[in-house]
Amino acid sequence: MAIVDIDDMYFHYPRAALGEGDEGWTLRGISFEVTAGSTLGIVGESGSGKSTLIRVMCGLLRHQRGTVRFEGQEIGEFRGKGANELRRKNQIVFQNPRRSLDPRMTIRRSLTEPMRALQGRKPDDDELIVSLEKVGLGREVLPRFPHQLSGGQLQRVGIARSLSVDPTILYADEPVSALDVSVQAQVLNLLMDLRDELNLTLVMVSHDLGVVSRMCEEIIVMRDGRIVEAGRTDAVLTRPESEYTAALLAAARLASLEREVEAPG
Ligand SMILES: Nc1ncnc2c1ncn2[C@@H]1O[C@H](COP(=O)(O)OP(=O)(O)OP(=O)(O)O)[C@@H](O)[C@H]1O
Ligand SMILES: [Mg+2]
Repeated sequence: MAIVDIDDMYFHYPRAALGEGDEGWTLRGISFEVTAGSTLGIVGESGSGKSTLIRVMCGLLRHQRGTVRFEGQEIGEFRGKGANELRRKNQIVFQNPRRSLDPRMTIRRSLTEPMRALQGRKPDDDELIVSLEKVGLGREVLPRFPHQLSGGQLQRVGIARSLSVDPTILYADEPVSALDVSVQAQVLNLLMDLRDELNLTLVMVSHDLGVVSRMCEEIIVMRDGRIVEAGRTDAVLTRPESEYTAALLAAARLASLEREVEAPG
């Protein structure tokens, strides 16, 4: 069953200079479905519209043409309590936890905020500790401020925060690219474990095709606001139909060869 269903969707930012046809639009003629419980990877060069697309999908940005449905309902038609539920069910883990967490708030307060805003409740420390433990952290981080935690710890807080309101879809926009290489795999493994344990649908933007092929059964390749290729990840990555995907793959192979040369064995 499709949890998100997008049909011929177009989006532009305010004051975009629109021209003939689809000129000037940031997203153009986007159509695809996300199957409930699946993991979708979104790849494509910088500026191709990946982050914009996930913001439209979860209702943070409003498309101007076409349809975006969440659980069968047009996303622009959620109102009042429904709009709150839409926000609760669609959570995002951002690229840079140092920028997405308020530096003036303790971790306790940052973790409490989504539950207060979206569910009108105030969790006690015991509940916060349970969510911290799910991401491999302990109670000692509750009184700390973001600058007192490592990047990896902060991203774990970001994940705990997103999961605290019991979402159905988790969006992750380059969730590890701001982190030390040494902790990237741990955070990705954590995301996969939580996805399986909580039965989440996961939509992940990544420039790392290796990560996408390990984590995602479906993939979308974007370029210039359009989908150039989509399908099962194994099929798309072994037999790409577009030259663009083939070029992305070649670049990825080159990068991984260079890493091997830098760090032999
Ligand atoms: N707030 C904004 N206002 C106007 N234009 C924007 C805004 N945010 C992004 N854009 C433009 O929209 C296009 C798509 O940007 P987007 O951030 O979605 O790309 P991306 O694929 O996520 O890139 P990256 O891999 O660098 O994160 C780009 O041309 C970008 O300059
Ligand atoms: Mg982006």
